[in-house]
Amino acid sequence: MKHSPISRRALAIGLALCTLAFAVAACGSDDNDKSSSSGAGGTSSNKAQKVGVLLPDTQSSVRWESFDRPLLQAAFKEAGVPVTIDNAQGDKSTQQQQAEQLITNGAKVLLLVNLDSGSGAAIEANAQSRGVKVIDYDRLTLKGSAAYYVSFDNVKVGELQGQGLVDCLGSSGTPSIAELNGSPTDNNATLFKQGYDSVLKPLYDSGKAKKVADQSVPDWDNQKALTIFEQMLQKTSNKIDGVLAANDGLGNSAISALKARKLKQIPVTGQDATPQGIQNILSGDQCMTVYKAVKKEADAASKLAIALATGKQPEAGLVNGKTNDSARDVPSVLLTPQAITKDNIKVVFDDGFLKKADVCTGKYASLCTDAGL
Ligand code: BGC
Repeated sequence: MKHSPISRRALAIGLALCTLAFAVAACGSDDNDKSSSSGAGGTSSNKAQKVGVLLPDTQSSVRWESFDRPLLQAAFKEAGVPVTIDNAQGDKSTQQQQAEQLITNGAKVLLLVNLDSGSGAAIEANAQSRGVKVIDYDRLTLKGSAAYYVSFDNVKVGELQGQGLVDCLGSSGTPSIAELNGSPTDNNATLFKQGYDSVLKPLYDSGKAKKVADQSVPDWDNQKALTIFEQMLQKTSNKIDGVLAANDGLGNSAISALKARKLKQIPVTGQDATPQGIQNILSGDQCMTVYKAVKKEADAASKLAIALATGKQPEAGLVNGKTNDSARDVPSVLLTPQAITKDNIKVVFDDGFLKKADVCTGKYASLCTDAGL
């Protein structure tokens, strides 16, 4: 309780120094401490700048937790950069809080997969005001302030889906097509649709195919997709010959609804080359998926994050385009997607993306053997 004048003075000085040190850390001019909230990357070089990753959810696609998280973790580990990866579980305010927390904990760069452009732009504006750089990861934030955008050519993804569906339908008759689009709040969903409609609309216009349903699935929610597709079947008295589903999860919802009604297999598209999507292709329930090499996406994003954190220019050739975010052009890395059907299913295994152990299980074991896997 009683402090001598000396010790009281020492205490005051110590406190002042501590406050100073704290302020320096908080304003972010230097940060090399070891710990992060999730404990990730704690062993990395102490010179490295911290990076935070904001993933969107776990229900719109398994890609975020099954592929993006481990691949980003590996990319930053290899570079010796501490990274903390959060998932907002589909909640915009959670994502905003996670961004805030990452910045408070010393992140100098954020990789953001937004839940919509409005909340994404708010996260970016806040980060900018704190001297923190943001990279739009996979999804572009419209009217945002990200330093870079790393993704795939998403219109091309849609074109591959549209062409894939047409190829699977073949040339006989006038197929009735249902479109199950991604979330209206995801700019990618708009680009995918732009891509597949560029293939399908001329067929609708010339009477070579008929669009019988066209609906977006809020938040890419697979459960909602099931209900929406059931209603599509209801309204058309089951007369749907092909489904343009924007990703494997939505495709699987359509497949489940078809099975529940004991209807025959019809061409269904997808995206992400998920284990389930590949199993559905093996069983003939799905006709194609689009493989996006997430490893390349994670590697590109980690290289840009490191360049931003160290104030250096990214390696030549990495940034290969610009994307307009409705207000300005964002320097972009746009990777090339690939269509996968039963014929080239090996690609996703040869690339190290999927393991046979995750796909060729149970009744799929013999289907894998038949497919030459
Ligand atoms: C991604 C897709 C993903 C979807 C749902 C899109 O923005 O590009 O890969 O399937 O979101 O998470």
